[in-house]
Amino acid sequence: MRLTNKVAIITGSSSGIGQDIAIRLAAEGAAVVVNYSGNAKGAEETKTVIEKAGGRAIVVQADISKVAETQRLVDATYAQLGSCDILVNNAGMEKSADFWEVTEEDYDKVLDVNLKGVFFATQAFVRRLRDEKRPGRIINISSVHEDMAFPHFSTYCASKGGVRMLTRNLAVELGPLGITINNIAPGAISTPINKSLLEDKPKLNALLKNIPLNRLGTTEDVAALAAFLASDDAAYITGSTYVVDGGLMVNYHEQ
Ligand code: BGC
Repeated sequence: MRLTNKVAIITGSSSGIGQDIAIRLAAEGAAVVVNYSGNAKGAEETKTVIEKAGGRAIVVQADISKVAETQRLVDATYAQLGSCDILVNNAGMEKSADFWEVTEEDYDKVLDVNLKGVFFATQAFVRRLRDEKRPGRIINISSVHEDMAFPHFSTYCASKGGVRMLTRNLAVELGPLGITINNIAPGAISTPINKSLLEDKPKLNALLKNIPLNRLGTTEDVAALAAFLASDDAAYITGSTYVVDGGLMVNYHEQ
């Protein structure tokens, strides 16, 4: 148990990667805030799994694309659990479209959740830590597409590229406060975000050919790294991105 007496917020933990990070951090001893925007049932499911395993969890609804709601999320955490040590910025979304077809509405949706949400949730969390002179951990669930092109997902790539630079910038600004910040960059993980890909056999097989480990990642693969980055073992790590992609990003074949 590496996170005993810690409190962790995991945004978007009603499904997918966020759900398993919440479950894993709770198994490591943290009291966990399960955040969701629309999927109340999924959030309750996360809480139930945690409690059945003997862990502690509360559920807080907040749409992190709105600044006031990021503040409310942090306030609710303090009100119910008394403090907060770890913020996992996991909530994210993607929309596929040719660049020339992207609408202002879709641009705003993706950027507001994936970048603005991370920015202001982090700000609300950091302000509390600064006021209390407490150290803290921030873990952003970014993507291999913070670096690697993803045609037809220009909004997603722009948001994740922004998260990449935000992490590097904040590592410098928050280091003196004893706060670390790192990114996890998952590759192709089996979750609801890529449901349409998972259902399209030819597309899925083409993708698997690009993955040296020859399988999709699991949410547990990502959660294990999040638990490490949240723990004391990672005390001297900040401003970095950790890729969890089965070798996807470094893959190259001449034939
Ligand atoms: C995206 C997935 C994609 C994967 C690998 C992730 O960031 O959310 O849709 O399959 O990257 O390209």
